[in-house]
Amino acid sequence: MIRSQVIGLGSYLPDNVVTNADIAKRGVDTSDEWIQERTGIRERRIVRDGETTSHLAVEAAREALKDAAIDAGELDLIVVATTTPDETFPATATTVQARLGMHRGAAFDVQAVCSGFIYGLSVADNFIKAGQARTVLLIGAETMSRLLDWTDRTTCVLFGDGAGAMVLQAHDGEGTNADRGVLNTKLFSDGRLHDLLYVDGGPSSTRTTGHLRMQGKEVFRHAVTNICAAIEASAFEAGLTVADIDWFVPHQANQRILDGTARKLGIDPKKVISTVAVHGNTSSASVPLALHQAVKDGRIKPGDLVLLEAMGGGFTWGAGLVRW
Ligand code: UT7
Repeated sequence: MIRSQVIGLGSYLPDNVVTNADIAKRGVDTSDEWIQERTGIRERRIVRDGETTSHLAVEAAREALKDAAIDAGELDLIVVATTTPDETFPATATTVQARLGMHRGAAFDVQAVCSGFIYGLSVADNFIKAGQARTVLLIGAETMSRLLDWTDRTTCVLFGDGAGAMVLQAHDGEGTNADRGVLNTKLFSDGRLHDLLYVDGGPSSTRTTGHLRMQGKEVFRHAVTNICAAIEASAFEAGLTVADIDWFVPHQANQRILDGTARKLGIDPKKVISTVAVHGNTSSASVPLALHQAVKDGRIKPGDLVLLEAMGGGFTWGAGLVRW
């Protein structure tokens, strides 16, 4: 059986660090104490004028290609998960393709907001399993700060910018859950929940970019329930239980969501990778950013069972199980 193995990782954060106190100083009616207590966020990175999503994506991609020891010319496919493309069209993925110097294969974007990296992982894995691509570059890249209404304190303190990248490649496996690589991905969505989290603009409606709008309390409630269900579905399909999983790499929206999910499923909090304190919510970039951190610092090791999960606007949610 063909398995999509992760052969390289990279990430990139803009150098501009914005603390909670910085946001309060800019005139937003908030405090470091409120933000830390309700979300666990201490600081986030924000792009400077002229820095775009593709810029972050290319930096993360270069590091992932170097880590994989391959050249961009060996890629068959680039998938960029983003909800903040440089332009309405073309896809940011084709801009990245050109800047990386890849002149073959295909490149396209996936839009599933904060679940984008999990959706992209599923797309990449299925292209590889179907034999349509051997080597795929998957990137989650966002400039969420561009979508924020800085007069809305209920949303503007939560998000940050960044990018994470992963190179996946086809390798032979036995078809058991001992195989290295992606064991499964589980995707879900429910479009009826649009009004709880959306952007109030777009080319075919307002002809503007719009701003992010969220009913935070309601999103929170759905997040814990949906994430728990996705984790259990992924473990069950692989013939495993939640207790068999070595590391959980969740979408980083709120430390209280990470804690609530761990409590509900009886997961040891030490197994949950958390970067929300220093990244904030970077939407589709948050899972690969957290994953890269945990691999770099030596927590995630070859052979470990790693569960990636996310939930976001749409609603969309999902999980992916990877044997490292
Ligand atoms: O990535 C996609 C998924 N997104 C999420 O998962 C986000 C999910 N939601 C959350 O993380 C939380 O609901 C929030 C962090 C957004 C809000 O936390 P909360 O504990 O649900 O607070 P709340 O919305 O109930 O607000 C409590 C109070 C309100 O004041 P009153 O009505 O009690 O007087 C808010 O106006 O906190 C006030 N508040 C703030 N105060 C200071 C809201 N935002 C702020 C702020 N600073 N930034």
